Order: sequence, then C-alpha cells, then structure tokens
Amino acid sequence: MELPKPRDFSQVPAYIPGKSEERVKAEYGLETVIKLSSNENPMGPSPKALLAVQHHLSSAFRYPDHTSTALRECLAAYHDLPADHFLVSAGLEEMINCIGRAYILEGQRAVMPEVSFIKYVISARLMDSPPQFVPMKDFGIDLDGMLQAVDDRTKIIWIANPNNPTGTYLSETQLKEFLSHIPPRILVVLDEAYCEFADAPDYPQNSHRYFEEYPNVLVLRTFSKAFGLATFRIGYAIGIPELLEPILKVREIFSVSSLSETAACAALQDTEFLEHYRQLVLTEKKRYYHELDRMAPLGISYVETQGNFIYITLPEESQKVFQGLQQRGVIVRPAGKYGIRVTIGIPEENDAFFAGLEEVIREMRSTP
Ligand SMILES: Cc1ncc(COP(=O)(O)O)c(C=O)c1O
Repeated sequence: MELPKPRDFSQVPAYIPGKSEERVKAEYGLETVIKLSSNENPMGPSPKALLAVQHHLSSAFRYPDHTSTALRECLAAYHDLPADHFLVSAGLEEMINCIGRAYILEGQRAVMPEVSFIKYVISARLMDSPPQFVPMKDFGIDLDGMLQAVDDRTKIIWIANPNNPTGTYLSETQLKEFLSHIPPRILVVLDEAYCEFADAPDYPQNSHRYFEEYPNVLVLRTFSKAFGLATFRIGYAIGIPELLEPILKVREIFSVSSLSETAACAALQDTEFLEHYRQLVLTEKKRYYHELDRMAPLGISYVETQGNFIYITLPEESQKVFQGLQQRGVIVRPAGKYGIRVTIGIPEENDAFFAGLEEVIREMRSTP
C-alpha cells in the first residue's frame, strides 16, 4: 500500500527541546528538579502581567486581533517608533520560520554563524536551502568571515546578539561597520532575544533604529526570556513596513492570542520587575565566573556572557556530564561535544548546579 509521500525532510535538523521537570522527576525518582536548560526567567512572569491576563480570561472566546494592534501600540510607545514598524508572532520561533518562507527564493542562501540558534538552520532547510555556516572566532561571531561568505546567492544573514549558546556579543561599532558593507538586497536579521541582559558598555543601544540608516535590517525581540512569558509565545520584529508585510502574509492567521497580547502589554510596563530580574542575572553571573574560576583546575572553563545563560567547556563529554547532572536533578543543555549551556537561575538553583557540576566532574575524573 503506497501512502501519501511527504517532502523530503531528511536535511531538516530536529529541534530537541530539553526534558520537562516532570519527566526528569519521574525518570530519576527525584522530588525536586532544577531546570536550567531553556533560558526562561526563573522568577516567573511579572505579577502585573498575570493580573492583566486574569482580567481578560472571560474574553478568550473571541478570536484575537490578527495584527495585534494593541500590542503594536504598546511597543510603539515603548520604543518610540510608529506602530507599523512592528510585526508580532507566536514567539520568534514562528518569526524565524516565516522570514525564511517569505524571503528565500529558489537557489538563495542564508549565511549564519556555525554555532548559533538552531532555528536559523531549520528555517533555511525548510526552504531547501543549505545553510552557509561561518566558523566561530574565539566562540564569537566572526563578522569578517560572515562578510567573506556573502555572495550573489546570499539572501539572509542571521546574527544573534548576544549569541546563543556562546553568550558573546557584537559591539555597536562592529555591527555598523559590517552593515555598511552589506548590499541592501540582503536581509540582515539581528536576533536580540537576550538584549535585556547585555551590560557591556559598547553593546548596541539603538539597533531598533538601524532601519533608518539600513532599511534591510530587521531586529527581533521576544517576551520569552527577560519578560518571563515563554508559554504565551510572543515575539516581534522591528523594521520598515515593506519588509514586514511579506512576513505577515506567511504567518499563521491569529497566531498570537489576545491573552498573550494583554500579558505582553502589561509586562512592558512593569519596568521594576524587569530591572529586578536583570540585576539578579548580573549578580549571579559574577558568582558563576567566581565558582567556575575555582573549578578551573578540574579542566572547566567558560565564555564570558552577555545573556542570562553561560557556555561552559568541559574536560569530559558533554552528554555524560549532562546525564550526571540530570541524575542529580539539574537539567542543563549540552552544546557541542565538550560544552554545556546553563541558564543563570536564582541563587539556590545556581548553588545546586555548582555543587552538581563539581561532583560529576570529580567522579568522572576519578573513575578510569
Ligand atoms: C537566539 C534566540 N532567538 C530566538 C529564540 C526563540 O524565542 P521564542 O521563545 O520567542 O520563540 C530563542 C530561544 O531560545 C533564542 O535563543
């Protein structure tokens, strides 16, 4: 019997999400599990966002506004830009796919760093376009290499700033210099999912206005990380309306629920909550550096981060360390053969990670 044959997806990498706390608890018979694998806000959503959602629950029987007008107006006020310069999607996951679908024509390619967010690869592969990878330079994005990779087939350039999973960043000067060499027919996407955590003085502060000088630039932001609204699925793009319209054409109708819209508007206004979380990340980041420096004799090293996560290199295979940590109730994300990416959590969570990591590595090193 011949069943309907789908398109060939063998080249599309599978997105492997981290296991849930519940699954890890059940699998290892643990009472408490700490999830440091998806860079979510460990403090949860802003209480003001939750309250706003509760007030709107009774209107959930209505379809949402297809273009999220109310949220775009909130974003317009927040960024001091016109509302038609924003496009909202069900998280950046949806946006990244839609950008590929809207822009990659047959034979065109997307240039991206070799170690970055896997979704850029998926987005290109879904369009039958082999990604053009550029090797990293000291764990950071090599802009000279990216520039050299650009050719007549290039249609999109993906840049995560800060980069996931390495946590490195590109400065305002580096980015502007790079952009000045890119022809306007190429779409440059600056994915700033983690921008709220960047504390480097030269981290770009005005990238949401780059379109004024470089109309081929789109900036992406999300409510999943700093704003603690990952389950609501809300992301947005900032750019000129001419670039956003084709993306809306391929985006799902009604993909952003009105409850998500309400939560996002309220979260944008809760600056105190955001600042509190930001300070927590900055303080705990220093503790990570301190503790990991202490573990350096074990062969553990790290890359300084501008995100709410840290990339750690290990003397042992990451899968084994990941398993060892998971057995101890700490979920992290393996990243490469000898690396893990760890979300910066609340102090107790971080303490559990430090203790777990040291124990796992010591144990592995003492057993032949
Ligand atoms: C760099 C980067 N971009 C985009 C996303 C997707 O975010 P969202 O939750 O908005 O889909 C992530 C999530 O991990 C990310 O790390």
